[in-house]
Amino acid sequence: MPATLRALRADITRLSVDAIVNAANNSLLGGGGVDGAIHRAAGPALLIECRSLGGCKTGEAKLSFGYKLPVKHVIHAVGPIWNGGDRGEPALLASCYRRSIGLAAQAGAASIAFPCISTGVYGYPVQAAAEIAVATVREATAAHPGIREVQFCCFSEDDLTVYEAILARHV
Ligand code: AR6
Repeated sequence: MPATLRALRADITRLSVDAIVNAANNSLLGGGGVDGAIHRAAGPALLIECRSLGGCKTGEAKLSFGYKLPVKHVIHAVGPIWNGGDRGEPALLASCYRRSIGLAAQAGAASIAFPCISTGVYGYPVQAAAEIAVATVREATAAHPGIREVQFCCFSEDDLTVYEAILARHV
């Protein structure tokens, strides 16, 4: 049975899944947007662990604990900054999703939630990003059958509409 993929509108810090993904930056030392929300909700112990992770390259991801969040793990993925689309952004964004699924599987997670990586401050167009997110997660979960459920956690109604249309195509 393939993993269940679904989209929902929510604050990712409130979700009860095994792991949530953070849209982080190369320093892994926090920031605004979903990164700021995750650090606020997890408490200062998350920043202490993140300091020991040695940063993260764009397109890669690192694993931490969830501390005060209702999840065991946070996967810090660093998406590309949108620069017009011909600077490797699609491959780097796909890599974030692939690496995150791989890390979640290694950590024994069965359920994982993603925010819309790179589509906030980093400016990646939502439709293009969502197509990559869904296609890459389908592929990666086929390779990691322990991941049973993937949630695409949208912060806006518009983003949710985009994801629902993409997911509906494959049902
Ligand atoms: N739950 C779910 N989604 C959220 C939440 C939340 N609580 N808050 C914001 N979003 P962004 P990026 C959505 O800017 O584009 C940070 O400063 C938001 O509406 O958080 O990858 C980092 O430190 C958007 O749809 O991440 C980096 O410097 C999505 O999350 C930089 O921003 C991603 O927006 C990363 O930029």
